[in-house]
Amino acid sequence: MNIEKLKKASENFGTPLYVYDLSIIDSQLKKLKEAFKKLDNYQIHFAAKALSNISILKYINNLGLGLDAVSIEEVRTGIKCGYDVKKILFTPNGVNFSEIKEAVALGVKINLDSLESLIDFSKAYPNQTVSVRINPGVMAGGNENISVGHLDSKFGITEESLDEIVKMDKEKKIKVTTLHIHTGSDIIENNHFELGIRKIFSVAHKFQNIETIDLGGGIKIPYFLGDTETDLNKYAEVIYEEVEKFKLKKGKDIKLIFEPGKFLVSDSGYFITKVNYVKKSTKNTFVQVNSGFNHFVRPTLYKSYHEIVNLSNPNDKKFDYSVVGYICEKDTFAENREISKVSKGDLLCFKNSGAYGFTMTSNYNSRLKPTEVCIHKNEIKMIREGEKFDDLFRGQIDIFSE
Ligand code: LLP
Repeated sequence: MNIEKLKKASENFGTPLYVYDLSIIDSQLKKLKEAFKKLDNYQIHFAAKALSNISILKYINNLGLGLDAVSIEEVRTGIKCGYDVKKILFTPNGVNFSEIKEAVALGVKINLDSLESLIDFSKAYPNQTVSVRINPGVMAGGNENISVGHLDSKFGITEESLDEIVKMDKEKKIKVTTLHIHTGSDIIENNHFELGIRKIFSVAHKFQNIETIDLGGGIKIPYFLGDTETDLNKYAEVIYEEVEKFKLKKGKDIKLIFEPGKFLVSDSGYFITKVNYVKKSTKNTFVQVNSGFNHFVRPTLYKSYHEIVNLSNPNDKKFDYSVVGYICEKDTFAENREISKVSKGDLLCFKNSGAYGFTMTSNYNSRLKPTEVCIHKNEIKMIREGEKFDDLFRGQIDIFSE
């Protein structure tokens, strides 16, 4: 963490501010490739939902990655940023079929996760290549909202519909060449990954045209010193084992796809705010910053822990603070958090805010979305202008204007 650089960025562009250090995306990718070195046939798709600024998407495209897109807008954004359509996998959930038609027309690969949508697909595009998302029946993920591979989840195909899909494949109504799972995000336990991996490989044997297995995202990164993280070597080892078994049994190779979001960009991002007041109350000392959950929702929505560094006074004695935003309801970034002495005007930086930070911002309380900048080759460059007051009214129609 380069404190001077982050202070400089705040001075030049104001706060609140998102800063992304692109070199960290490189180093994360390197770690992933290192862990996957025994796997010789795989492709990495970046999960666009984690950070979808076009400069970041272009940067990641230049690193040779593909894209995981979950909306037609993400598909279009990927194409706009130069991604090869063959390296974009569209994984919608419950969308209107018109979106799927548009994606087919654009030439991207389609990954469907209900029997109902596959039937529509088979009618519109008989015997065309399609990917199928399986529900592995595994409860995994950092919290309830982001655990999506269990049997109560709306995602993926469960056992009940599987036989019907295998039949459609045999009868050449659809041609299933890819199977996909995404079990959750922030998956701590390696054995949860393992259950999903074993499951999808066991399902793969049922499909005659299978060429690719997509293992989704979900790798857990540490949010603070000593925090848990996915053991990437163990993760890769289980995959390698299953790939080798598959090759032996089927006599053919299988390609893998991975869809990391957090792993690639979380650590590259810093969200910087400024302290308006340090307010003493009966039970707490509140640090009130010039932001709220409208700018960075993870702590409120998921109770997620993000390390907070006082950039203005990083080495002073530490005190307990509750860091809160200015939104008109409970808006807590951190409770009873030890931070080096905070004063009015200090810059507080939230670490690990590259993933699902800006992409989850809103205009709640009629607040403006913040500026985004990146650090590239030692230079700080603006990649999104902060919103202006007039932006709040873009698209609104005043039916009472004279
Ligand atoms: N692939 C699919 C189909 C997904 O739905 C997701 C995330 C990923 C890949 C990437 O997962 P990752 O590697 O980032 O864990 N807003 C939440 C995370 C929601 C994840 C949704 N899907 C958060 O801030 O924790």
